[in-house]
Amino acid sequence: MEEKGEKVCEAARLGDVAGITSLIDAGYDVTYFDADGLTPLMHAAKLGHTQIIRKLIEAGAPWNALSPSSLSAGDFAMQFGHQDSFDLLLNAGVQAELILGTIARKEKENGHLNGNYLEDRVSFSEDKLMDKDSKAVMMAWEKPLMEAHAKAVCSGGGHVLNIGFGMGLVDMAIQQYNPVSHTIVEAHPDVYDRMLSNGWGEKENVKILFGRWQDVLPQLGSYDGIFFDTYGEYYEDMREFQQYLPKLLKPGGVYSFFNGLCGDNAFFHVVYCNLVSLELENLGYTTQLIPLPVKDCLAEDVWEGVRQKYWQLDTYYLPVSQYIDDSV
Ligand SMILES: C[S@@+](CC[C@H](N)C(=O)[O-])C[C@H]1O[C@@H](n2cnc3c(N)ncnc32)[C@H](O)[C@@H]1O
Repeated sequence: MEEKGEKVCEAARLGDVAGITSLIDAGYDVTYFDADGLTPLMHAAKLGHTQIIRKLIEAGAPWNALSPSSLSAGDFAMQFGHQDSFDLLLNAGVQAELILGTIARKEKENGHLNGNYLEDRVSFSEDKLMDKDSKAVMMAWEKPLMEAHAKAVCSGGGHVLNIGFGMGLVDMAIQQYNPVSHTIVEAHPDVYDRMLSNGWGEKENVKILFGRWQDVLPQLGSYDGIFFDTYGEYYEDMREFQQYLPKLLKPGGVYSFFNGLCGDNAFFHVVYCNLVSLELENLGYTTQLIPLPVKDCLAEDVWEGVRQKYWQLDTYYLPVSQYIDDSV
């Protein structure tokens, strides 16, 4: 077994297209991890052997396998500057996720939805909001990002909707723009209580809807700006929310969301940025991803006491989506 796997890795390194084709035809394992924890696809990606990558993917090699240092084939292609290989892997990733999305939709229909976050207690401190497993629901380092999101969704003034209050960072920033109305949807009872005790219930232009966005949908109107940032939900849930944009977003309005998608892996993040843009495009929206450097927001000790570093990249891509108006 091992010997066969090594042969596939070797052919991948050599860029031997004929060789790899016959190994694949003979049923050799393309999902093999060698002693260094690398797959044939990673070897090919490191060296930019695009044709080999194509063959391996067609044969079922996983585009998203990770090396011991948590790098995927796409990360290697990116690191070594092999643009064609990178593009091929990116396309493979997006296509695979489009299909997996279909599977996720099916799972959801069958009731496999994650669970208990809304029933468990959360804890607040000055710089973060954590769930019961010490995973960060929201952290203060995101403040500049939330301010940029607020600026984007308030650019047209008018009526603004925010889904997910968290630490209220985006909502505080939205208030600075003095929108005509500012609707906030929040589902967690502890977060809701805290909003009320901090006076959010008495602000003149603020309307709070307590409940999951899925449940308060019938109470929503249409808005000039919408921001989406929940916790404990799947990508699939955000995708579902986006299906309602044609109803919720006024013509000319701006939609934005917290773009933490796969924020711990550079290549997976690019895959998801592409995937979400494509899905929004299918709904009629064009998405700009505005790069914001975030290295300086992340001090050394920022993750102290936090179970999972949900963000490890140097640049944040702030999405700004608007309806594609063909008539102009
Ligand atoms: C990441 S925080 C939001 C942070 C916020 N953008 C800020 O600036 O502080 C996510 C929030 O969404 C809430 N939430 C989770 N699932 C939700 C749902 N289905 N509907 C509404 N709110 C939800 C969580 O309780 C949490 O307060």
